[in-house]
Parts: sequence; structure tokens; C-alpha cells
Amino acid sequence: MNEADSNMLQFPQGFLWGTATSAHQVEGNNTNNQWWEWEQLPGKVWNGDRSALACDWWRSAEQDFARMQQMHFNTHRLSIEWSRVEPQPGQFDPAAIDRYREMLSDLHTRGMRPMVTLHHFTNPLWLERAGGWEQPEVLTRFQGYVRYAVSALHDLCDLWLTVNEPLVYLAQGWFRGIWPPEKPLAPAALRVYRHLLLAHGIGYQTIHSLQPEANVGAALAIRHFQPSNPQRRLDRLAAGIKRYVGEDVWLRSVADGRIRLPLGVNDYHHALAHSMDFIGVNYYTSDLVRFTPDPRPLFGREHYAPDAEFSDSGWRGIYSQFAPEGLYEVVRELECYDVPIYITENGLPDSDDDQRPRWLLAHLSQLHRAIRAGSDVRSYYHWTFTDNFEWSEGWGLRFGLIDLDPATQVRTVRPSGHMMAEIAAANGISRDLVSRYAPELLAPLFGQS
Ligand code: BGC
Repeated sequence: MNEADSNMLQFPQGFLWGTATSAHQVEGNNTNNQWWEWEQLPGKVWNGDRSALACDWWRSAEQDFARMQQMHFNTHRLSIEWSRVEPQPGQFDPAAIDRYREMLSDLHTRGMRPMVTLHHFTNPLWLERAGGWEQPEVLTRFQGYVRYAVSALHDLCDLWLTVNEPLVYLAQGWFRGIWPPEKPLAPAALRVYRHLLLAHGIGYQTIHSLQPEANVGAALAIRHFQPSNPQRRLDRLAAGIKRYVGEDVWLRSVADGRIRLPLGVNDYHHALAHSMDFIGVNYYTSDLVRFTPDPRPLFGREHYAPDAEFSDSGWRGIYSQFAPEGLYEVVRELECYDVPIYITENGLPDSDDDQRPRWLLAHLSQLHRAIRAGSDVRSYYHWTFTDNFEWSEGWGLRFGLIDLDPATQVRTVRPSGHMMAEIAAANGISRDLVSRYAPELLAPLFGQS
């Protein structure tokens, strides 16, 4: 993008700036869900890490909310933990809901509009033991939980996400089998996906029946699959299959209410039709897809561009490649659904913060480019505020704007945290800021002068 005559990439008035978290990753002592149980087993989480006290939010989230306020954020995305709200089937815990009321009220007091996710990967143990998302009973269970939670919190929240990254939850648990319930290539995967989709529709209707003015969506992991060789028809086909299964099946079903193959044969569900007030986009990276005759990876093997830059987090594998243009492409492509787009996650693991400022600026400038081209984008939630418990990578991947030592709970703001604070305060990216944090982006963003 070249804006030679401007010294500022200004975002629309009222744009939401903040960070995203999920309950299990930050609250600490979430002992009543399947993740806690799984973490205690040897060899499951990298380095034997555990969530333990996490970021100690159950006791003192407000201290981090105060830091967010100092950083000029005007929103925060968090999730509420089903296993706390409904510790036994049908038995709700008013003290847990009161704690969430305290947190949401505190955010409001500090000028931050909350966005709340109702399901972010964790399930109460009682649900898990009864077959979890594989069993159709999950739908009525989820509805009961949503009804209770939203009845109690609707005066404090008008931005709801029913589920977070349904496909990641499904792929890690039932396809790759590396998260609980660890079932690689399980035929139940399709059932789980269908239940997540139906639960979204039921959740959407339940929220709207209690709070007609609510904005309800789901946060989807969108990877922007591209053919490895665009000239090769089979690569194009394989990338198309990934997009279809990974993104279109969900989005088209929540648009017109018809559940499509492979989850159903165009079966219509009234609750699903028009069940997205917005699309939540979690964007981390793009993938190239090369055709393979193997049906298990859906006829496509994913890989990164040979000359790509990668996150240098020192992880046991590659977490992501630097692909900021993918964010522009994704946002433009989603315009066809004609609803607002909220960027609900974007970030990278980078403990020494030597890449994050530049990556973040590059992604934000692509977002700005999409907005300038006409996309209705309402928010940017960076993943994440402080380092937190990164699922099967434990404390090994550090996504925070703020460095956190989980043993001492000492927090240290990274340079990218200071940078995000300036961006939120200005509601834009100034030439001066780019010259201080990533001078190599000055010419691409503002021209030569
Ligand atoms: C998830 C987060 C996770 C983040 C970084 C997303 O897939 O929603 O829970 O921590 O990515 O891996």
C-alpha cells in the first residue's frame, strides 16, 4: 500500500482495539474441565507444562484490565467457562456468574466494551464423560448453559461469540487426535462438526430471544488456502476442497440455513438461517495446498511458501509464516456475506518480540487497505494480552503483548505492547510510529519521502 500524501493510516471512528483471551488459558485453576484433566497426564503438554494458575484472572483479572485501560484499549474479548457456570448438569453456580459480572462491569467502568465467547475449546467434565460433542444431547445442554449465562449477563455484553474455531477444535481432537479426546481420523468428526454448527444456530436464537439487540457470531479460523501451483488444476481443486470444508460449509449454512455435504444433504434448519450478525475472523497465516490422492488430508497437503519468513519462536515446528496480504484477501472475500467483520484474533508467538512489531504493523496496514477498499471491519483483537497457557504447547509459545512469568506472575510490557497502545490511542498508524518500530515498512506504507 502506498499512501505517499498521508502521514497517518486512520481507522474508522469507533473502531474497536483490544486483545483476545479464553477462560482456560488465563483464569487459573479451571479444574472441572477436560483440559485440566488431560494436562495432568504425562507427556500430553509440551515440557510437561500445566495451566495451573495461568494468568491468575479468576482472582485478579481487574489488574490486567487496568493495564488494558492504560494502553487505551476500548474493548476486550474473553470467554466464560462452562464448567464454572454449570459445574454439574443442570446445576448452575451463581457465584461463578457473579464473578463474570464483576469482570464485565469492571471492563465497562474502564471504557472497554466486552465481547464474550461462550465456548472456547473446553467442556465440563460431566459433559465430556457423557460423550461431549459427539452426542446430540450436547445441543440441549449447550442451550441450557447459554440461556443461563446470557440471562445473567446480557445487560453487560452485546457482542457474543457462540463458539471459537469449531474446525480447530474438531481437527485437533478428532482428526489429528492431538488434543482431548485424542481420536485420530475418527468417523465421529463429522458428527461433532454438525453438532457445533447446530449449537451455533441454537445459541444464536437463544441469545436473540433474550436480547434482541445483541450482535451474535462465531469466531472462525480462516487460513486462506491457495493452490501450490495456480497453473495446476489438481492443486486448485485441492485448495478449493480445503476452503469448502474449512470455511464455506459453515458460512453458507449460517447464511441460508442449509447444512451441506459432508455434514448433511442440504437439510434446512430454521435456527441456522441468517444466524450471523457478523463474522469473527481469526487470521494467523496462509497455506499453499498441493494435491495428493490421499483422501485423509482432504486430497491436499498444506505447505508454506519456499521463500517465506517464519515466526522464529524456536518451537518444535513452524507455527506460521508471515502472510499479511492474506488478511486483506480474506476480508475482501468475506464481503460477499454482507455482514460486518470483526477480526477476533491475529498474532504470533515471539517471546523476544523481534518480529511482532513489524508483523503486527504489516497485518494492520493490510486491514486498513481492506477498509479503504470498502470492507466493513469493526475490530482488531490481538491474540493476546499477556502470555498465556497455549494448549498443547503449554508455556512454550509466547503470544503476549506482555511477557508473563507464570511462576512469579511478573508482567513486562513488550515493545509491541507499547506500540499497540499508541495505535489504539491514535486510532491509526502514524508515519512516526512506523519509523520507530519498523522503519523498513516506511516506504511500503507511506512512500519514499
Ligand atoms: C485459539 C487460541 C490460541 C491461538 C494461538 C487460536 O487458534 O483460538 O486459543 O491460543 O489460536 O495458537
